[in-house]
Amino acid sequence: MPFTIAIDGPAASGKGTIARALADRFGFAHLDTGLLYRAVGALGGDPILAARGLSAGDLQRDDLRTAAAGQAASRVAAIPEVRAALVDFQRRYARTEPGAVLDGRDIGTVICPDAELKLYITASDEIRARRRALELGADESVILGELRERDARDAARDVAPMRPADDAVLIDTSALSIDEAVELAVGLAQKAGA
Ligand code: CDP
Ligand code: CDP
Repeated sequence: MPFTIAIDGPAASGKGTIARALADRFGFAHLDTGLLYRAVGALGGDPILAARGLSAGDLQRDDLRTAAAGQAASRVAAIPEVRAALVDFQRRYARTEPGAVLDGRDIGTVICPDAELKLYITASDEIRARRRALELGADESVILGELRERDARDAARDVAPMRPADDAVLIDTSALSIDEAVELAVGLAQKAGA
């Protein structure tokens, strides 16, 4: 039985950093599920058809990390048929041996409700905006507005809204270095049997 780690949380909270580090540490596969929605948004045209026809090559585009791609992702992510088209791929990925780490918004609640470990990563709005602005070389106050708008849309949608699973462990990374956040997550994964 593969070991599945589900990681969710708002934009730029540190999900991806923790997910990559856990995958490295335990020799697990890692899927950044946000990339699927970013690719669907970036493809343009009919998002439902784009989601149904998504291929590995679509995830390699170099424009997927921008704030505009994040906004486009969050719009198409509210469409039930888009989400439905991406479920099987994610669930299959989660069964990779010996384990897999998936990060997104609905991994612990919808995609992998039986995951061996669920984490919900948060940080204050201001700190998340500062980190993302540094990463993109963008204006912090513009990024703050963008993240808040996206989080509000992600939390308010009817299908698979962003929220912690009842059995998720909450980690606030506001006052944590990357190393501290990773060590905390590694300890929880070891305790859970990874
Ligand atoms: O995946 P998500 O959008 O949640 O966030 P991320 O890409 O892992 O992290 C966003 C930025 O914050 C990256 O540049 C990380 O290096 C940085 N970060 C940090 O400075 N301190 C942490 N404890 C976690 C992440
Ligand atoms: O890295 P960051 O947290 O900024 O964004 P992301 O994880 O790449 O996700 C981009 C957008 O895709 C989110 O704002 C959500 O609208 C959507 N998404 C989702 O709905 N469900 C997921 N499992 C992952 C992402």
